[in-house]
Amino acid sequence: MDSILVTGGGPLNGQIPIAGAKNACLTLMPATLLSDEPLTLTNAPRLSDIATMTMLLQSLGAEVSSLQGGQVLAMSSHDLNNLTADYDIVRKMRASILVLGPMLARAGQAVVSLPGGCAIGARPVDLHLKALEALGAEMELKDGYVHAKAPGGLKGGVVDFPIVSVGATENVLMAATLAKGTTVINNAAREPEIVDLAHCLQKMGAQIEGEGTSTLTVQGVDRLHGATHPVVTDRIELGTYMLAPVICGGEVELLGGRLDLVGAFVEKLEQCGVDVTETKSGLLVKRRGDRVQAVDVVTEPFPGFPTDLQAQMMALLCTAEGISVLEEKIFENRFMHAPELIRMGANIDVHGGTATVTGVERLKGAPVMATDLRASVSLILAGLAAEGETRVSRVYHLDRGYERVVSKLEAVGAKIERISGQ
Ligand code: EPZ
Repeated sequence: MDSILVTGGGPLNGQIPIAGAKNACLTLMPATLLSDEPLTLTNAPRLSDIATMTMLLQSLGAEVSSLQGGQVLAMSSHDLNNLTADYDIVRKMRASILVLGPMLARAGQAVVSLPGGCAIGARPVDLHLKALEALGAEMELKDGYVHAKAPGGLKGGVVDFPIVSVGATENVLMAATLAKGTTVINNAAREPEIVDLAHCLQKMGAQIEGEGTSTLTVQGVDRLHGATHPVVTDRIELGTYMLAPVICGGEVELLGGRLDLVGAFVEKLEQCGVDVTETKSGLLVKRRGDRVQAVDVVTEPFPGFPTDLQAQMMALLCTAEGISVLEEKIFENRFMHAPELIRMGANIDVHGGTATVTGVERLKGAPVMATDLRASVSLILAGLAAEGETRVSRVYHLDRGYERVVSKLEAVGAKIERISGQ
């Protein structure tokens, strides 16, 4: 297994390009199942999760061609000939469950393996199943698979989500586009990835209103046609790299960065002593003084502070002046980066969903282990400013969500290299 070696150092200066959003691409790709015409995505990120979704769609009979080094995904599910999403692929990536709604809507049936949990939590899919049942689907759980049927096709209905769920909103939104009649989705997720999916579906002929708000209204249509759609900028990659000059000093421009994608995150950065300026190519980030001030963080659904940036923010707050309290309210076990940061000299107290971070002057490099995608990159951020060397092992987690991390950080002056096989 590869590891990444980071040597703590001085200020970072220059530009970092931000790729298309992993979490948008992972829901845009299954949308191809809704139409027998080609769907082409541009600005696609080159990540192992995208390769996994490609394999899954191909196993269902869809054609997926990765062009221009993976930045363009040309897809067609004209010949959908297998309606079973196998455990072997689904267990690699939970987002595989997002083929359920589109397959059900297009073919009237689907068999999808339950995804199983992951490091950050049990992550059930009960809300996905209940939402599709509200559209008339019949669900049966057998041998670890969901057997879904909609013999006479899906019918429009009312979906009331008890809690906000990004994936469940995406699944039922896609299914509703081909349901007979009107669907209203209440307490829908408002993430930019949902808005991006709605825009792509609208280009395919779907009748959707309210994207970006908590209430989505969908008038079902008989069929959807093909389209070409650019994947929205990755707000989590953006937020992650915004922290690099804040942790180390210097000034970095994030190319393609958009303020509307990271509003709550930027508010927190400004509170702790960071200047974020919009430029014609993106966002310019610079720490005001030599050390940021402590701030409290509570993770919430969009437009609140994103849970996917909590680990990275904790890495920053480890060396802030003062005490910060971070509350993780989306997932039940998303502080696994804390013990690794403590190995680097951080002072963190975790009780249930709350982590209290008492800032120290400087962290010390140490061998640490990545436990999940966002934890892995928080350890790299910590290593950028720590004294000495930090070796982050199990970086396969990183490859799921961050393309070319080493070259992007090297380009702004970081001392970082990837070591294979250790
Ligand atoms: C999406 O996961 C993202 N993944 C996650 O990003 C992100 O952390 C999460 O949304 C929250 O923003 C993708 O888009 C591929 P949820 P998702 O359904 O859809 C509970 C990353 O690092 N829940 O909004 O799975 C669930 O357990 C990943 O890129 C149910 O109880 O998240 C969680 O506590 C990590 N039943 C909460 O809801 C369900 O049926 C929010 O989950 C579904 C979810």
